[in-house]
Amino acid sequence: MSLQVLAPNVFELGASHRDRPMFDALMPLEYGTSYNTYIVVGETHTALIDPVDPMKVDVLLRNLKEAGIEKVDYIINLHTEQDHAGSTPVIMKLYPEAQLVATKAVVDLMETHLHIPREQFRIMAAGETLDLGGRTLEFRPIPFAHWPDNTMVYLVEEGILFSSDLFGAHFAMEENAYHTSSEVLAAATRAYYAEIMMPYNVQVTKYTMQTRELNPRIIAPAHGLIWYDPDFVLSLYETYTGERKRQNVIVGYVSMHDSTRVMVETLAIQLARRGVEYSVRNLVSKPADLMVETGHMSTELVDAAAMVIAGPTVLTGPHPAAAYAAVLFNALKPRVKYFGFMGSYGWGGKAAETIEALTSNLKAERLSPLMIKGLPTEADKEAIRAWADELADKVLALPDPLK
Ligand code: FEO
Repeated sequence: MSLQVLAPNVFELGASHRDRPMFDALMPLEYGTSYNTYIVVGETHTALIDPVDPMKVDVLLRNLKEAGIEKVDYIINLHTEQDHAGSTPVIMKLYPEAQLVATKAVVDLMETHLHIPREQFRIMAAGETLDLGGRTLEFRPIPFAHWPDNTMVYLVEEGILFSSDLFGAHFAMEENAYHTSSEVLAAATRAYYAEIMMPYNVQVTKYTMQTRELNPRIIAPAHGLIWYDPDFVLSLYETYTGERKRQNVIVGYVSMHDSTRVMVETLAIQLARRGVEYSVRNLVSKPADLMVETGHMSTELVDAAAMVIAGPTVLTGPHPAAAYAAVLFNALKPRVKYFGFMGSYGWGGKAAETIEALTSNLKAERLSPLMIKGLPTEADKEAIRAWADELADKVLALPDPLK
């Protein structure tokens, strides 16, 4: 079984999910993921925090049995999303005497998402504590990190912060945790942040500062690694949420008959001439890769200065792959400083206008869209180089993060 000890009688015994390929049908999982369940045993009461995703409830049941957890007094839900709360009904049957405990925001959603009546919960206010006998759990709501209901619980006597989704990483612990590098951990944390936390930068910035002030000894999130050195993950989050950007351009494109590919190639060559770091991704290099490529591009955008989407016109609108990227990044809201769309067309259409409408959430300064009819001519390439120069001037005018 998988069991990690955080302190005497405080342990994690949830489930890893190494072979899950995607999360939320959006983000590729390079290192799998885990659904962490924590047990806190006090002198008088025992609490179980966050049951696992129902896909892995068998693992949790086996771990509880092997760990000899015969009595649970409180089942605490920190968040309603099914990867943490979905197995609650199963755990309620296993421990019928247990009291469900959650904040009102969780209870509101548990009624609709899991059909558990609110009367079955003990509702905890912000700052309220649950006494386990010599061990105190303090409830600290963190709304919109990343749902309205996410809640942290602080085990006061041990300095352990159970942080729900915040500070998580998609990382299958039992297979990976003991033979990996800090670079891999940082990469997994960054990819997770891109999909889960990036849309809520204001809130996440605040909660990161509050966690610094709290100065927990251990941060125990709902996914992935337990942070025995909280400074590692807090420093990463301070970088992600900060204002400093790399002087780079992230480009995602799709091409049908090479016109857009030639445009992107011309853009990249000019950016290189100007000394601008860039990354170019063909979003459909393989037909099934659109979600994988856009997922990886999301991660690159965490601290990027600029984003470019490029694609041809299909009938009268943007290529659906470019539209998908626009919709995804509009939802994830990367805090790039500059955004541009370039594309090609056969005879007409409104691809640029549609991409503009699909990216209305982006706060970035926009370059004028660059649309070219057919295969770019030498004159068209000059226009692309001028567009690249305008972008390079803006990116290189940003403060150099390495200085
Ligand atoms: Fe890991 Fe928002 O659930």
